[in-house]
Amino acid sequence: MRAFVVDEQDGQLTLGATDVEPHATDSDDVLVKVDLSGVNYKDALVAMAKSRVRRVPSLVGGVDAAGVIAESLDPNLTVGTRVAVHGGNLGVGRDGGFAEYVFAPSRFINVLPDSISTRHAMVIGTAGFSAMESVLALEAHGLVAGVEVLVTGATGGVGSLAITFLAARGYSPVASTGSPQESSWLEERGAARVIGRDEISDKPDRVLASERWAGAIDCIGGDTLQQILRSLCYGGAVAASGLVAGSDLTTTIYPFITRAVSLIGIDSVEATASTRSRVWTALGQIAHKVDFAPLVDREVSLGHVADALEIVRKGETRGRILVNPNKG
Ligand SMILES: NC(=O)c1ccc[n+]([C@@H]2O[C@H](COP(=O)([O-])OP(=O)(O)OC[C@H]3O[C@@H](n4cnc5c(N)ncnc54)[C@H](OP(=O)(O)O)[C@@H]3O)[C@@H](O)[C@H]2O)c1
Repeated sequence: MRAFVVDEQDGQLTLGATDVEPHATDSDDVLVKVDLSGVNYKDALVAMAKSRVRRVPSLVGGVDAAGVIAESLDPNLTVGTRVAVHGGNLGVGRDGGFAEYVFAPSRFINVLPDSISTRHAMVIGTAGFSAMESVLALEAHGLVAGVEVLVTGATGGVGSLAITFLAARGYSPVASTGSPQESSWLEERGAARVIGRDEISDKPDRVLASERWAGAIDCIGGDTLQQILRSLCYGGAVAASGLVAGSDLTTTIYPFITRAVSLIGIDSVEATASTRSRVWTALGQIAHKVDFAPLVDREVSLGHVADALEIVRKGETRGRILVNPNKG
């Protein structure tokens, strides 16, 4: 089969589409025929020389995929079922979704709701799964529809899908972006208003900023997350999933002990079966309200994945880049 392979030998990194044999890691792995995969920020990290994210020297890239089950010994995952595959070490420590076929253990495989096609599942992808996981985490914390919710990295995968899903559930998402030229596009996705990256908080000379956000979805980390914490409303919460601006977090204890705010960690990789089920069910319930087509930045063949990874690494995406392994 054709696949996009990341290979590093003796410090020499090679990226490209080539022919490989699909192979199961365990005898009960399920084989999925891939309709589409998606390019995630993590894929860009995996495909770097001396990557600290990639766990093996050589593998098929792609942390997610959607398609149809081709072979399975699991009675709950029958041949022909439409599924999304993501999580664990897929595309990080074992062959991933940038291929015509992918083998995965049952626990990485999610049966799609009837309302979500395999194409829409990959417009959602790991990014959209994390976005909805973030929405549900804020709601479990007490967030209720009608309020403004801050979303950072708004034009990226997690950000644009968070805006879309928040709007579909009755919130007023406020998009924070470093790409002001995309303001109209963000408003079309459901943003109630658009602000710059440096407009999240005020009073830079004070420990705490004005109380602005009942909730926030952040995939940027670093100073952005610090600014969110100091500008959350009393009892508010931020769901943090990413580190685009860095992995260090410098903050004070004051937002926590004087405003009772919460920092909620979001992880899609080791999400439990019950979390996966809750998130995909919630996605299925709003799918009819979502205009998926404009969320696709572009669709590329396996031969153009390397270029797509570079675009993602530079933060130049608008929504999601899809990978079609069946495209010449
Ligand atoms: N925890 C999990 O399970 C999980 C799951 C999925 C993703 N993630 C993480 O979430 C993050 C985002 O992933 P993604 O797939 O949405 O990435 P993406 O599509 O590349 O989007 C990232 C966005 O961040 C903004 N940005 C880029 N460089 C920036 C910088 N230096 N400072 C501030 N903002 C910057 C850009 O949006 P604007 O131009 O609009 O500002 C960009 O579009 C990554 O760190 C990824 O690893 C985590």
